[in-house]
Amino acid sequence: MRTIIEPFKIKSVEPIRMTTRPERLEWLAGAGYNVFLLRAEQVLIDLLTDSGTSAMSAEQWAGIMRGDEAYAGSASWYRFETAIRDTFGFKHIIPTHQGRAAERILFGTVCKPGDVVPNNTHFDTTRANIEAVGARAVDLPSPLSRNTQDRHPFKGDMDVEALEALIGEVGAERIPLCMVTVTNNSGGGQPVSMANIRAVSALCRSHGIPFYIDACRFAENAYLIKLREEGYAHRPVKEIAREMFACADGCTFSAKKDALANIGGVLATNDDLLAQQEKDLLILTEGFPTYGGLAGRDLEAIAVGIQEVVHEDYLQYRLASTRYLGEHIAEAGVPIVQPPGGHAIYIDAAAFLPHVPPLQLPGQALCAELYLEGGIRAVEIGTVMFGRRDPATGADLPGAQELVRLAIPRRVYTQSHIDYVVEVILAVFARRERIGGFRFTHQAAVLRHFTARFEPLYEFGT
Ligand code: F0G
Repeated sequence: MRTIIEPFKIKSVEPIRMTTRPERLEWLAGAGYNVFLLRAEQVLIDLLTDSGTSAMSAEQWAGIMRGDEAYAGSASWYRFETAIRDTFGFKHIIPTHQGRAAERILFGTVCKPGDVVPNNTHFDTTRANIEAVGARAVDLPSPLSRNTQDRHPFKGDMDVEALEALIGEVGAERIPLCMVTVTNNSGGGQPVSMANIRAVSALCRSHGIPFYIDACRFAENAYLIKLREEGYAHRPVKEIAREMFACADGCTFSAKKDALANIGGVLATNDDLLAQQEKDLLILTEGFPTYGGLAGRDLEAIAVGIQEVVHEDYLQYRLASTRYLGEHIAEAGVPIVQPPGGHAIYIDAAAFLPHVPPLQLPGQALCAELYLEGGIRAVEIGTVMFGRRDPATGADLPGAQELVRLAIPRRVYTQSHIDYVVEVILAVFARRERIGGFRFTHQAAVLRHFTARFEPLYEFGT
């Protein structure tokens, strides 16, 4: 097969500033070794997130100029509503400024204290919005996801037996909805199979529990179904996506991912009464239901992006570039979560640095080293993000796993950028035995990873 190329040419460029190792050493120390505290201009290749970081197409920029900024009933709203309904299929489409605003309105409307919301794996804002209304967020990932080296094609699935047990234990009346996140971001970016979506939907329907999809990366999930699940190889991705959504009663969506936009979100439902209650809350905090906290120009960019994201040339390139990064580092022995998913490669930092114990923050050490070596910004998903202080003893407890996520912005980096990332990771891997741990010098009580400061426990940068 020929090389899978970027299915676009470059019309507008954004220079990135080359940096030197001494500069990076100084900037990193100034940021307390926390890459969240760097200035973006100090970063060469920014793999912190795939959210809101997409490059827009010429058509999307044309939409920006077309944006109708009328407060109520703008032409941009109608184009947005038509495009979203055409892709998702739900009756009521409610615009929000980003995904978490849709989550807040949904859970604020349907959840009460003591309720339980299951998900394959909640994203952190999803969990936080459920907990903010006094309900409990329960993760029910497939047991296959525990083994990072297992190459099962759908490690993002929900554990259906565990869902059945949970319903039996707490009672369907305490479960206001059940959610499945596609792809399973917090669970290693792994896809969910159509068979699993159908099984979860059928179980929920038999108990009268509404079933929702967290649709952030719906197009990548649908394309992975096309590639990996029997019976879908010849079906258009858009049709596969519609089949996924037809199993659900509604969805939440961040347009910052699979709508190729820099901002925006959606809450969708088929329930008339619920939609009315949600719109009432929307008016209170987001805006009138024909703009929901977005400018008309943003609605246009999303309306175009949601159509472009299901193009199969785009998706083929998108998944090939993620796989390319994963395979090239894995071939050289770097431990990653297998198999590569849609939007990111996750390095297993505990296996990369087996001599660094979890409480000495191996993921943080790896993030600092990747920045020092080549100006790459990644994100730790381990003890820094999910570790806790034991409320009884005050002892530090490690997170469940020590991952470093390399999230790939959509349509932003070319193959030579990815080749460079591979070289930098391999250079760090070659000197891994000389890398040590870190400790906190400052941490906030909640969401500490954003603002924490650290110091190295070894001769960093020598
Ligand atoms: N659900 C999932 C699965 C997500 O990955 C995110 C965001 C959200 C909901 C919230 O959407 O940011 O528009 O409010 N994920 C980003 C990330 C931030 O880096 O993975 P939002």
